[in-house]
This record gives sequence, structure tokens and C-alpha cells, in this order.
Amino acid sequence: MCIKHREKMAGVQATIPFRSRKKVYVDDEDVGSNENKDILNIRKSSDRKLKRHIEHDLKRETDDDCTPVKISRKDTMVKNGKSRNVSEEENLKPLTSRETEIEWLDTFLTEHLEKEQSASLYVSGQPGTGKTASLSYILNLPKFRECYKQVYINCTMMKSAASIYNRICKELQVPTSGTTEKACFNAIEKYLKKKHKMILLVLDEIDQLDSKRQSVLYTIFEWPALFSRVVLVGVANALDLTQRALPRLQARCSLRPLTLHFAPYTKQQIINIFTNVLANEDKTNVFSPVALQMLAAKISAISGDMRRALDIGRRVIELARRTKFSDNQSIDSMMKDSSVTVELKQVLEVLNDVYGGSRKIETDAEDGFPLQQKLILCSIMLMLTKGKVKEIVMGKLHDVYKKVANARNIMPLDMCEMCAACALLEARGALRVGGGASARARRVRLQWDHAELCAALRDKPLLSAILDDVSCLPS
Ligand SMILES: Nc1ncnc2c1ncn2[C@@H]1O[C@H](COP(=O)(O)OP(=O)(O)OP(=O)(O)O)[C@@H](O)[C@H]1O
Ligand SMILES: [Mg+2]
Repeated sequence: MCIKHREKMAGVQATIPFRSRKKVYVDDEDVGSNENKDILNIRKSSDRKLKRHIEHDLKRETDDDCTPVKISRKDTMVKNGKSRNVSEEENLKPLTSRETEIEWLDTFLTEHLEKEQSASLYVSGQPGTGKTASLSYILNLPKFRECYKQVYINCTMMKSAASIYNRICKELQVPTSGTTEKACFNAIEKYLKKKHKMILLVLDEIDQLDSKRQSVLYTIFEWPALFSRVVLVGVANALDLTQRALPRLQARCSLRPLTLHFAPYTKQQIINIFTNVLANEDKTNVFSPVALQMLAAKISAISGDMRRALDIGRRVIELARRTKFSDNQSIDSMMKDSSVTVELKQVLEVLNDVYGGSRKIETDAEDGFPLQQKLILCSIMLMLTKGKVKEIVMGKLHDVYKKVANARNIMPLDMCEMCAACALLEARGALRVGGGASARARRVRLQWDHAELCAALRDKPLLSAILDDVSCLPS
């Protein structure tokens, strides 16, 4: 594999605390083993609803079925009378926005398969960045299904080292003399010493193993150096888990795993994924463009977590549906009518609900913001972009805002009223106001970026006109 490409993919991202997981969300469900089923089968399920797709994503699977869903050979080969090639081509399209990572994984696995070489890889990335989904896609590719003996273990479910070894024995169909840790371990090592098919062992969520069970990681991460034809892939959130938790591996070159990092999804990637998911569900126009822009901008600014994005998408659609069918509608007509359109207002409401902001969106959200609040936001943008100020104090903001308002023949709010308007903007999550002994000395920090502001203001001409009005800035 080309080193340059490798380095590019292993790009450094900010790390997140060890064991920091998707459970940080108050209402987040632990996604179970079948979470990728929908993704993998996304293209063959035109009859499935987006709602169901997203709901499935959140369903907790309580059983111990950690293996990602495999598309059965029968399913893949003959589906509705279609030939294997047609259905496979349809089903096995790489995940949107993860094409590069998937290509990297494909090259990595192909190279080691061809050379019959052992290797280890550590895949990192924050929650919801598509690590499991991408690996699941790769494991289901026919060439890897056929040529590798695959073992996939989600470590969240593993209660002890014995259960991990036990599971590996089962998957490899290795006979053991018992179920104890030692019995299973010996059986595996005996198997690995003999000539065997290429093994692909994927350990997902290895950061969920506590320190006691982490010793098992050392053992397993050593296998590729000790035995031939073993490819090991460890997956977790933290960028530097192998350095911190397995420092001994770093010391020996032969044991040091390669790394592949999944960066948080950007706004455009989230939009692309949504667009693709909605198109596959024949729901292309469910989101108004501005609503989708806002949702994607917010998620990418906060976490780049697609699980969260899909969850919010589902809630927004439900809200839009409830709003539309609130009066005198029977359940039947509700189900039949799929022409719901999600507007910015509903996205803001759900975002407020999820990420805080005490004040519920009121009718003025129909038009984005009341005019005075728009002028304040635009004045802040003007100060930040053209005034080159890093920190905005309320007094200075009031000076600029007054000029901006006067230039448009709008009566400006006085200092006290402007502070109240800023408090409303703060409640919507647009601003943070803090510090300062007096009202004029309080600091104002914008929480939204340019794109989010444009989406929320719904008034691009006003914003660009004010941004051009440098005469309103102090000389
Ligand atoms: N590129 C994508 N296209 C479509 N859906 C995606 C994509 N990436 C992620 N998802 C969706 O987001 C959910 C979370 O993705 P996934 O489970 O792969 O994240 P992860 O990186 O493994 O997260 P964690 O670290 O929490 O295990 C998936 O169930 C999938 O439905
Ligand atoms: Mg995962």
C-alpha cells in the first residue's frame, strides 16, 4: 500500500477521553449488533420507510449476537429472480462519504490476503462516524467473505477474557477441552500454529474492555507477529488508545499496528448521506433545503455523529407529521399521506430540545428571527469578519448595531432592550453572553458559523448588505 495514502488516511484528529462513548446522550440507546443491517441493504429496500430505517438504528439489541449481519449467500445470489451480479452491484455500493476509508480498508485487506501476510490495524474515530458500518460493508464483500475466515466481536458484550476466547473458538470452529480461559486460549494458539485459512479478526469497541480485561488485547494484538495468516483489526473511539493502553506494542516495530482514523462527518458529508438515504426511500423532498442545511451544520459543529443526525432527522419528521395531522385526522389518512415537508422551524425545535435552549420556538421562527434579532446577529458577524475583533463586548456591539439599524431607517433598541434580545438569542443557542461587571462590559460569543446563520436568518441579502457596510464599524 502506498505510504503517502496511508499517511493521509491516518491524519491526526483531536482525541476524546478514554471510554467516552455514545452513552453520553441522555436518551441514546446502545446500538446493537444489527445496526448495520439497514446500511448494508440500503439499496435493495426501496419499500422500507426512512422512519423505520432510522428507528431500527436506535433499537437496542439485547441478545449476544455481536456479528454484523451477513447477507446470506442465498439472499445475495438470487433476489427476486435477479442474477447475483445485478443484486450485488446494487447492494454493495460503499457508504456515502466513507468511500476513501473503505477503499483504504479494501486495499489493506487485499494486499495481506494476496501475500498471505499477517498484520494488525487500529481503527479510531468518534461515535457515529461510520467505523462499524464501513467494516461491516467490507466484511460482506464476497471476496473477503470467501477468502478470509472472519471473526467479528463487539467487546461491549464480552464480560471476561474467557468469553472473548470462547467466542473466537466458536467462530473458528476450534474444538476445546473446556470453556475456561486457559482451555480456549490453548485451543486457539494450537489452531493458529497449524496451517490455516487467512483469518480476519475484528474486535470492535475495544475501549469498552476494562483494564483487567485489557490484558487480553495484548495477547491478541501479539498474534499477527507470532503467527502467520492472521489479520487483526481493533476498533475504538480514542485516537491514541493503542499508545496509551498497549504501550508495549509500540515498543516493537513488528507489533505496532497501522492506524486508520475516521474523522467526524462534515456538514456536506451529512447532507450527502441524508440526501442518499432519503432518495433510497423515495423521500427526496421531505426536508426543505434550509432545514437540512441547518440540521447538518449543527451536528457537524457539535460532533459529526451520524447516529445522532439520523436520530434528530427521525424526530423532526415525526414532529412535522404530528403538526400536519394534529387536527381531526384519522391514523389511516395519516399513514397514507406521506407528503410531509420538514421546515426549519421543526429542525430548530428538535435541536433546541436535544441540545438545550430553554425557550421553545415561537411563531416568529416562521420567518427565522424577529428583525431586531437579525440586525444584532448581522452586526456581530460584521464585527467578527470585517472588524477583525476576536472578542465582542456588549457596549461595542450596541454601537455597531445602532449604526446598522439607523442605516436602514430602523429605530434601534436601547442598550437594555438589546441585552434582552441577546438573552433570547442565547436561549436559541445562537449566542453565549457572559462575564463583565456592567452590561456594556459583558462578552458576547457567536455560537453559529456563517452557514448556520444564513440558514437561520433566511435573509441572505440582508446579511450580505450588512457585511458590506464597514462604515458601521468603529474607525
Ligand atoms: N456513511 C454513512 N451512510 C449512512 N449511514 C451512516 C453512515 N455512517 C454512519 N451511518 C449511520 O450511523 C450509525 C452509526 O454508525 P456506526 O455504528 O458505523 O458508527 P461508529 O463509528 O461505529 O460509532 P461507535 O464508535 O459509537 O461504535 C449507523 O448505524 C449508520 O446507520
Ligand atoms: Mg461502532
